[in-house]
Amino acid sequence: MTTFRNYIAGKWVASKTGKTFPNRNPADQSDVIGEFPASDPRDVDAAVVAAKKAFDGWRRTPAPKRGELIFKVGEILSRRKEEIARAMTREMGKVLKETRGDVQEGIDTAVVHGGEGRRLHGFSAPSELPNKAGWTVRAPIGVAGLITPWNFPLAIPTWKSFPALVAGNTVILKPASDTPHCSHLLVEAFEEAGFPAGVVNLIHGSGSTVGNALVEHPEVRVISFTGSTAVGRDISAKAGKALKRVSLELGGKNAMIVMDDADLELALEGVLWGAFGTTGQRCTATSRLILHQSVREEFVRRLIGRVATLKVGSGLDETTDVGPLINKARVEAVDEYVRIGTKEGELLCGGAPLRSGAHRKGCFYAPTVFDRVPPSARIAREEIFGPVLSILTVKDLDEALRCLNDTAYGLSSSIYTRDINNAFYAIQELETGIVYVNAPTIGAECHYPFGGTKDTGNGHREGGTHPVYEVFTEWKTIYVDYSGRLQKAQIDNRKNE
Ligand code: UN1
Repeated sequence: MTTFRNYIAGKWVASKTGKTFPNRNPADQSDVIGEFPASDPRDVDAAVVAAKKAFDGWRRTPAPKRGELIFKVGEILSRRKEEIARAMTREMGKVLKETRGDVQEGIDTAVVHGGEGRRLHGFSAPSELPNKAGWTVRAPIGVAGLITPWNFPLAIPTWKSFPALVAGNTVILKPASDTPHCSHLLVEAFEEAGFPAGVVNLIHGSGSTVGNALVEHPEVRVISFTGSTAVGRDISAKAGKALKRVSLELGGKNAMIVMDDADLELALEGVLWGAFGTTGQRCTATSRLILHQSVREEFVRRLIGRVATLKVGSGLDETTDVGPLINKARVEAVDEYVRIGTKEGELLCGGAPLRSGAHRKGCFYAPTVFDRVPPSARIAREEIFGPVLSILTVKDLDEALRCLNDTAYGLSSSIYTRDINNAFYAIQELETGIVYVNAPTIGAECHYPFGGTKDTGNGHREGGTHPVYEVFTEWKTIYVDYSGRLQKAQIDNRKNE
């Protein structure tokens, strides 16, 4: 049995608690990947000391140089792509095709942010006074605490750490306790790339202990968190009191509209991928399907036929379509929603955990579809984070858009239509941070902004170039007066008025 360690000040060290927790394969709970440190606030303190100590040297390292180290991490991830993808499927469950995609998203993120080392654009503007110049630069904030989820165990830590580091911050990564191994492998890549000691630190453990200690530590000046809306609210309240920068990427209740003029086969492929890809465990997952009444009957019939052919099993088997849920607790939580759903809508397929034969050792759940779900139903309003799709029926585009927007969340949305007027009108009216036309609600690319409105977050975006640097930098405005005399802004240039 391998015992893994934290990474502090460039060294792999055990937790001060001396305690560990097991990391299990969700497709086979008897397969233990290793023991990971169950850290506590003392470990966080040690990481903060290391990250603070490294900060001055790192912020003074030219940004293009910082970017080159990120490119190197990207090269290492490329070289180890297949190995990391396999480790991810074993640890997290999703199928190999998807874990390869997850690692690729990390590699792509390195390309974007490595290059950003040579941009990190500020701007200049003419001064209102003669012989005076003004411009802006982006300065790092300090120590960044990065708290990441288990559903994209490589990509999301790179979304957060690469821009934080290119901007000149030092970081402490606290990965979800369901997927510590992928972060361990990422930090190995940082180490091999040659990051100076203390610039990147890794602390394993629970969110309530380690995550909370990061949020409450006065020297951690920026927090980036992806996870549930409930935890996000708590982080926001604590960080608000401490006047910390905080970026939150929270829940979703994403919907796909299928209009009467849509290419139904294309929409069918889209909803299968959007709803059951990653076993529904994406914050962008398609969990509501809004059908125009005139295509409803045919679409539902074809959908149910296709769902029945989805193969549920170990993600390491290349013929599997849908892997396990992340852990036993998730199976119970999804099942609870399904029980609620059977009172709210009409169960068309699935509706139970899979516990026999090849499924007996894992956390499997049958792909589930509910029809005739009213917009007020809990399964139409609350995030389930599992392979459960709710179908709602509408009479026209306006009702479809109202129905799609009628949610507390605002991450991703999708419309299938061949009518250009419908498409552009939907783009205008949809309230989500991401809108897809003729594609499902999942599949964001790392160089575009990623994030949502309403309870999905607090207005920040990951990804892209400018948006994520709003999280990880301070604007510094510089004025240079080369007139040789005292000039008063707002006053001297109005003398004759
Ligand atoms: C998430 O669900 O937390 O757009 C991230 C997508 C992926 C990222 C999802 N590229 O589905």
